[in-house]
Amino acid sequence: MSLSLRTLLLLGTSAATITAQGTHASAAAAAAAGPSSSSAAHSGSTSGSQAGGQHGAGHNEPPGPADFINIDVQHHLGWLWVALCGSFLIYHAIVRSVHYIRKIACLNNETQRYFANPNVAYGRFKRHFSEAPLFRTRHHREFKLSSALNVGTLPSRFQTLLICAYFGVNVAFCVYNIDYANDSKTVLKELRNRTGVLSVINMVPLFLFAHRNNPLINFCGVSFDTFNLMHRWLGRISVLEAIAHTCCYCINKVNTMGWAGLQKSLTTHLSTPQTGLIATCAFVAILFTSPSIVRHAFYEAFLHFHIAMAALALAILWLHLKDLESQKVLIIVIAFWLTERSIRICHIVYRNFGSSSTKADVEVLPGDALRVTLRMARPWKFRPGQHVYLYIPHIGWWTSHPFSLAWSDSEAHSPVVSSEDLPVDIEKSGAITPVVQHDVLGLPTKTSMSLIIRRRTGFTEKLYRKAQNAASGRFTTTAIVEGPYGKENLHSYGTVLLFAAGVGITHQVPHVRDLVVSFSNSTSATRKVVLVWIIQSPEHLEWIRPWMTTILSLPQRRDVLKILLFVTRPRSTKEIHSPSSSVQMFPGKPNVTALVEAEADAQVGAMAVSVCGTGSLADDVRKATRGVMSRRNVDFVENAFSW
Ligand SMILES: Cc1cc2nc3c(=O)[nH]c(=O)nc-3n(C[C@H](O)[C@H](O)[C@H](O)COP(=O)(O)OP(=O)(O)OC[C@H]3O[C@@H](n4cnc5c(N)ncnc54)[C@H](O)[C@@H]3O)c2cc1C
Ligand SMILES: NC(=O)c1ccc[n+]([C@@H]2O[C@H](COP(=O)([O-])OP(=O)(O)OC[C@H]3O[C@@H](n4cnc5c(N)ncnc54)[C@H](OP(=O)(O)O)[C@@H]3O)[C@@H](O)[C@H]2O)c1
Repeated sequence: MSLSLRTLLLLGTSAATITAQGTHASAAAAAAAGPSSSSAAHSGSTSGSQAGGQHGAGHNEPPGPADFINIDVQHHLGWLWVALCGSFLIYHAIVRSVHYIRKIACLNNETQRYFANPNVAYGRFKRHFSEAPLFRTRHHREFKLSSALNVGTLPSRFQTLLICAYFGVNVAFCVYNIDYANDSKTVLKELRNRTGVLSVINMVPLFLFAHRNNPLINFCGVSFDTFNLMHRWLGRISVLEAIAHTCCYCINKVNTMGWAGLQKSLTTHLSTPQTGLIATCAFVAILFTSPSIVRHAFYEAFLHFHIAMAALALAILWLHLKDLESQKVLIIVIAFWLTERSIRICHIVYRNFGSSSTKADVEVLPGDALRVTLRMARPWKFRPGQHVYLYIPHIGWWTSHPFSLAWSDSEAHSPVVSSEDLPVDIEKSGAITPVVQHDVLGLPTKTSMSLIIRRRTGFTEKLYRKAQNAASGRFTTTAIVEGPYGKENLHSYGTVLLFAAGVGITHQVPHVRDLVVSFSNSTSATRKVVLVWIIQSPEHLEWIRPWMTTILSLPQRRDVLKILLFVTRPRSTKEIHSPSSSVQMFPGKPNVTALVEAEADAQVGAMAVSVCGTGSLADDVRKATRGVMSRRNVDFVENAFSW
């Protein structure tokens, strides 16, 4: 970001006068060297240049020393982001390398004793910092006023530190190196320009972090959830800076020209102050319509309004920043946005439109759920931990909803030459891929992907009602699938403990299949997999029955997999029976701490504890896992949707 800014700044100089070019070129060099040097280089600079100058009335004023300090501040902020992303990138690369080496080292090692013991300092770091909730236990359990009114969640300790530090840095930069000895008019002008510059430059990460296709998710190993949290806080910071910018302008105008002067400037058609005011109003509208309680209660309305206001703010800002360097920052922001949208459209077209289009078979299941089997227009590589965005135009028009991929199969649509029994194959990497069967012409057959969708109150409710009203509780419709997004590999862990609540099982089933197959093929370190699934009623078992049948018939399954089912609201105790010693059923909720401690005491190699389900279960599992982190080598893997 900083590099692009530097390039843009240099490009900007070419538009300035020769005198100004010389002045600015030396200033840019000085700016790179540090704030004091650039200030020194520009003290006394009076020649006109738009390159470094932020706007005065109508943006016609020549740049002064304060404008060059603003350039410095943008550079500092840019470098801060480079340093932050670089640190995450390096940390993630190290963690991945350790996992890879551990997996290779453990392929033929049954006890894996060395890897069961933690690095105590790292264990403490995870326990008290990187995996810790802000206070005691609460992180993803929502604060709720009622079942529909969700007030939000608490960020983790690490996330809070990041947010507070970035907020502090912005406050410091807003007031940094302003010459308070000057008269109030000059001080307010400098503050106005500084806050304006910061508000605009913060839009670069603000927009990038909102994207599903943000490349930093993969490079830095940071979840979309965390980027989404940062997006929200960057938005708040950027809006506060825009408000401060507008206030400084208004106060100065009233002080110098009176209320009438302010009114005239704000009512002049598309004047700089007027466009600034409109952009700030659009920002404030976004701020007031994005708290968790509104987002969760009216997600689709929120999303559409949010995008419309962001587009309006960008368009108006473009006019507001006419002839200023900051306008070029908007080009970066718009380029990010357009690129991401184009990538999404290309993915959608590629995945869903070929010789035929993607179809969805929707089927009602007991327990207010649906099974959606997507017959994809093109085959794809299925890996555990993936989710997709589903569009069913017939039901939800252009809106899309995220769902975890629970299962994949390949299906033949003409005589096939493959005689594979099992629907999965293991690549060298160990990832599950559907066996792409080939017909007599050598063309790949279709892949199908399955989702389990729990009925809520919007799109899912409409889909459920449509299936319920159809003959035999099922219907077929045209669907569009966007993705896949995300992936997770647990092959380097000797022991894997998977927790799921309700429909959260969709995230864990692919792991179970993947790990059991990799165990029998000796392509992972995994020696022990325990699945703990908590459901309200035994009828929820229907959701995954056909897939579990396949998993339970996989070779060597008994040697590696144990399934514990907890039914919290059974109608009678007769419903609770354990089919075998490796598949056991219990009434009530599990004692999560006891389960985690028991597995940690007997763990083989490193242990992963993964959870997908309600916020309260996720917090309980996090607490229990942190409890064993400093004495055993245990990692906590959470799948949370807290946007
Ligand atoms: C990565 C991921 C994977 C998921 N996997 C599954 C799954 O396998 N099975 C399952 O049943 N559910 C899953 N969910 C939840 C599912 O996306 C929502 O239940 C669904 O979008 C609700 O749609 P609705 O219109 O009926 O919601 P509403 O009843 O209107 O709202 C219910 C909740 O869903 C949220 N929501 C609504 N629309 C969206 C949207 N487009 N994007 C994100 N959140 C939304 C609302 O904010 C609200 O909190 C997953 C969510 C995420 C983020
Ligand atoms: N890929 C993913 O990350 C993913 C995919 C799908 C769904 N999800 C999320 O998973 C959640 C599950 O949805 P759902 O409606 O199917 O769940 P649900 O039916 O409300 O809950 C499932 C079960 O978990 C029990 N439970 C809740 N909190 C618990 C705790 N702290 N300890 C032990 N048991 C607990 C519930 O018991 P009681 O009801 O008896 O209290 C219930 O039996 C949703 O929040 C959804 O967003 C995540």
